Amino acid sequence: MTSPAVSITSLRHAWPGAEPTLDIERFEVAAGESVFLVGPSGSGKSTLLGLIAGVTPVQSGRIEVLGEPMLAGKPRQRDAIRASRLGVIFQMFNLVPFLNAVENVLLPLQFSPERRQRLEAMDRDGPAEARRLLRELRLDEASLTKKATDLSVGQQQRVAAARALIGGPGLVIADEPTSALDRSARDSFIALLMQECSTRGTALLFVSHDETLAAHFDRKVDLGEINRAGVTA
Ligand SMILES: Nc1ncnc2c1ncn2[C@@H]1O[C@H](COP(=O)(O)OP(=O)(O)O)[C@@H](O)[C@H]1O
Ligand SMILES: [Mg+2]
Repeated sequence: MTSPAVSITSLRHAWPGAEPTLDIERFEVAAGESVFLVGPSGSGKSTLLGLIAGVTPVQSGRIEVLGEPMLAGKPRQRDAIRASRLGVIFQMFNLVPFLNAVENVLLPLQFSPERRQRLEAMDRDGPAEARRLLRELRLDEASLTKKATDLSVGQQQRVAAARALIGGPGLVIADEPTSALDRSARDSFIALLMQECSTRGTALLFVSHDETLAAHFDRKVDLGEINRAGVTA
């Protein structure tokens, strides 16, 4: 049986000195499923993604990503899971400024033998696959070798998506990666991202405060409906 992409049980999180941000009894993303997670600004969406990505250690409860527990006491194990099995698209993209588009996309392969092996199993080499992904995501030919700092926001976003996808991770998580784009650019970016994920059976957890994007996804989840923190009885 295939493990769910994300499985959360009895998760609680409070930032130091603050009221609890998250209190989620159950939340699951099935293998290959695309989920749109919506919630207002400040509701804890980025906090939740940080926990799922293993950037933030779990305080209480359990998170499994693709069948593997994200253990609070094992930061290196979490880093290894993130590097090999997860694609992360941050709000600010976090590209390496002095590397060009293709070089940025190749970075995850350096950190993960698993990603390299999956590419080899598909009989593909890194640079060719990086170019293929960037073309699929509609980055123009001339921009492939431009430094990250010389790319527009929309182009940087495509590079960040290709970097998340290279080497076929089982799960991509995206934190409001479209907030800097206009409506039609947003829709086309999501359609392309979705297409790449579905051809590979990659699950997608996409977070935004913009409800209008929900129609693209298999399922919409309102963080307010699964999160008991901040609810006054
Ligand atoms: N690294 C952090 N340290 C302390 N507090 C944080 C941190 N990140 C987020 N918070 C707090 O947690 C709450 C939820 O924030 P966040 O998860 O960023 O919400 P969203 O992504 O939905 O806008 C806010 O009150 C925010 O100030
Ligand atoms: Mg956020």
